[in-house]
Amino acid sequence: MSISDFFYNKMLSVLNEREQSGAIPTPATNEPIEKSDGELFTFVVFGDPQVSNYMFARECCFYGACKDIKNQAEPIDALLVAGDVTENGLKCEFRMVSHILNGISDKVSNIFLIPGNHDIRLRSYKKQLKRFCNAVSSIKNGVVPNGTNYHFSVDFPSCKFIMMGADRASFEAAHISREQLDWLDREIGLAEKENKPAFVFNHQTLKKVHGLPDVWQSNDNWRGSVGRQSELLKRVFENHSNVIFVTGHLHMGVWEKTFEDFGKYKCLSIPTVGAGNHGEFSHDSQGYVISVFEDKIIARARLFSQGKFVDETIPNAKIELKKI
Ligand SMILES: [Fe+2]
Repeated sequence: MSISDFFYNKMLSVLNEREQSGAIPTPATNEPIEKSDGELFTFVVFGDPQVSNYMFARECCFYGACKDIKNQAEPIDALLVAGDVTENGLKCEFRMVSHILNGISDKVSNIFLIPGNHDIRLRSYKKQLKRFCNAVSSIKNGVVPNGTNYHFSVDFPSCKFIMMGADRASFEAAHISREQLDWLDREIGLAEKENKPAFVFNHQTLKKVHGLPDVWQSNDNWRGSVGRQSELLKRVFENHSNVIFVTGHLHMGVWEKTFEDFGKYKCLSIPTVGAGNHGEFSHDSQGYVISVFEDKIIARARLFSQGKFVDETIPNAKIELKKI
């Protein structure tokens, strides 16, 4: 048996034991994710599962959240995992992610993963990209990057998804090349021409957004953000008027700085769907359900492992945007 098989079997046996013992919560079914009148497109976004071959609470929280999706009567249009899919980019970790997501692929029409620093930081860019693409292609309904880099886009009738990803291996930040920035500018522009909102997904956010750098407990101003290209990225967003920038990385439970509206672009920070959110609202297995209508977008925070939406007394539990 390979070392990778050994760890995968261990991860699987812990998950099964905890499920059978009742240690993984069973989500309630009385607050389903259902399309309301006029709702054109519905998707779920999770941050940072960070599935790990030794911190087993991560896979259990991720699995618990996915049980909520499994409970839905109708498939949701898309699920996006906003990076740090794994703790260390190991084959056994990706295999567990694939195992869990294949369990709900009948309830999600399109499954997207984007890379985070934890997914790409320990080996060569090409090797990790290949491993990442193989993992996505092993998931039924997984939408696979083209294989030369991580960024790509998908047009839906009512909105556009733009998936970003680092162009170099790096430990904490994300290097975004000039080529990717130019591509991003064109892609957002195309959505703008069609009067569609552009959901731009990246693992790290811009500098000084969502409580950075304080929430990262850092003395410099780049840690926790995308890093050096933050200003250039912001300028791309400012060229347009239809961008919702959706990121993970911060592991902050829903709070007053989860969402920030900068006029031409909006920033939404997704909590971790794994274990251990920071802040006052620190429940495990948090994420957002995002609903696109002809004239507005509604984002609702959800405690997936409990199968219920976050109480609207919590800041940013429900965000409503008028379509520009
Ligand atoms: Fe991260």
